[in-house]
Amino acid sequence: MIATPDRERFHHLAGGIADQLRFLAECGCPGFDPPPEILDILKKWAGGPPPGARRKGAQETLDDIRRDLGDCRRCGLCTGRTCIVFGRGNPDARLVFVGEGPGYEEDRQGAPFVGEAGRLLTRIIEAMGETRDSVYICNVVKCRPPDNRTPQSGEIAACLPFLNRQITAVRPAFICALGAVAARTLLQTEAPISELRGRFHDVGGVRVMPTFHPAFLLRRPERKREVWEDLKKVMGAMAQKTD
Ligand code: URA
Repeated sequence: MIATPDRERFHHLAGGIADQLRFLAECGCPGFDPPPEILDILKKWAGGPPPGARRKGAQETLDDIRRDLGDCRRCGLCTGRTCIVFGRGNPDARLVFVGEGPGYEEDRQGAPFVGEAGRLLTRIIEAMGETRDSVYICNVVKCRPPDNRTPQSGEIAACLPFLNRQITAVRPAFICALGAVAARTLLQTEAPISELRGRFHDVGGVRVMPTFHPAFLLRRPERKREVWEDLKKVMGAMAQKTD
């Protein structure tokens, strides 16, 4: 068993090696095209222990994790941020929403989903009979990518141990992964969101429902019906499973 700070360094290192190998392979460097299984193994190591893997009882709190994150400089996103957006909501939530990363408003306010997409997410949460205070909301990356671009794999790898630790601390029964980045990161796959959404995936005993991101729904409101179908499945499963 590797001690916590060393374990974190190890996960960070594994993520860096995977990124570097992928980069060299993309550049056409001979000998640097490892089989996808090897990249998959490195990617899994980079994520740290799967959510839920830690023993109940000996558990760190969200405050411990936030303290450990500190004034994070683990990737380049730190240079452009105003605030780290860690997460908000109920530390004992049964349902966690995971988005991609902070946008302009989130970066200014230090809270997740407080811009236009956030207002839509609030309406969705309330339509489910929940509130922003009854669920927990966080993102894959905690700092805003420049111009809201998609976070890069190295940035995701640097933040993933913290996301996994947040999930382990909250111990939700259900996670709603909002959009492709959240779904692919939590499920450790490259599959498109259209293939992943609409059904539960088991991640370390947590039932993960991928669905479309609210920002996508702002552009394509006709897809709201599909999101509602996905969330009805979450509501139904939550009503059945009461622990
Ligand atoms: N989009 C996200 O993925 N997360 C936020 O916090 C805001 C917008």
